[in-house]
Amino acid sequence: MKKIVILNGSPHEHRCTAALADEVIKGTGNQGAEVKSYYLNGMNIKGCQGCRACTEKGRCVQQDDMQEVFDEIANADGIVFATPVYMWQMSAQLKTAVDRLLPFLRPGYNSSLESGKKVLIAVTQGREDTSFFRHYFEHVGNNLLFLGSDRIKSS
Ligand SMILES: Cc1cc2nc3c(=O)[nH]c(=O)nc-3n(C[C@H](O)[C@H](O)[C@H](O)COP(=O)(O)O)c2cc1C
Repeated sequence: MKKIVILNGSPHEHRCTAALADEVIKGTGNQGAEVKSYYLNGMNIKGCQGCRACTEKGRCVQQDDMQEVFDEIANADGIVFATPVYMWQMSAQLKTAVDRLLPFLRPGYNSSLESGKKVLIAVTQGREDTSFFRHYFEHVGNNLLFLGSDRIKSS
């Protein structure tokens, strides 16, 4: 069975961003997949301390709720990063979690995860023009390719 992890970076557990993430799952044709959704705002997730222990140990030494998320991401076929646009960017809740993904980045900017994961970013916004923040989120998406998306190119 396929496994999909949603990281919901909205402070609102069941509003627009959560609804969009659900629609995204439906749209992937993975309705039968096992979906694990994390409401980041309600979790104990501290910011990355920049200690670099993960570079040596391969795991983050901070014992908080990210430990479970790490395992789920490692075993997932797909990861959905869901966020409202806050001040032209992803929410702070999601950015905090994204910073904590450093253990998956090996020296040389290679991924420690198996390749083949699908990575999606689901964005809600107030502004009517849906193209307005596209460049920013394309940039974020390119940065997240290190999670093992099959769109990673080597050069
Ligand atoms: C602090 C804050 C900053 C926001 N910044 C933007 C923004 O820069 N551009 C935009 O289009 N919408 C912005 N919005 C609107 C939210 O992106 C929008 O309401 C979103 O759909 C809310 O998702 P939610 O229902 O999951 O909370 C902002 C909202 C808040 C509260």
